[in-house]
Amino acid sequence: MQHPRADKFIKRWGGKKDCLIEMMHDIQNEYNYLPEDILVEVSERLKVPLAQIYGIATFYKAFSLTPRGKHQIGVCMGTPCHVKGASLLVEAIGRHLGIKEGETTKDLKFSLATTGCVGTCGLAPVIVIDEEMYGNVNINQISKILKKYKK
Ligand code: FES
Repeated sequence: MQHPRADKFIKRWGGKKDCLIEMMHDIQNEYNYLPEDILVEVSERLKVPLAQIYGIATFYKAFSLTPRGKHQIGVCMGTPCHVKGASLLVEAIGRHLGIKEGETTKDLKFSLATTGCVGTCGLAPVIVIDEEMYGNVNINQISKILKKYKK
């Protein structure tokens, strides 16, 4: 049985094995993760071992095998950020969204993670949402910052 969700990704890249990573990027972009049933279908139709696909999925950080939120929130936990209260930010964001670090909201809008130093220690504590960086963040700003992404 062919999976209609896999079909469009395979067709878009002409069903070529060489374009496997591009297909995986497309799937990731559409679902914010790589659903297992689609990967199985891709594996069968391209005749690429599923283990190879999982190998690629786990090697590249851009891919996720579990559902991820549309918006990725990263709280820097490098020493300067930690000293300036990054843990409180993790708690405040978690409370606001009803999730813990490493989790994703049920509506798949947000995922919350901690990161290593993102290189702007002078602005500690720092959070990064998708590609956007926020420095000198305090817990009173969390609600306002997140509101922007809730639309
Ligand atoms: S420790 Fe947070 S930006 Fe460097």
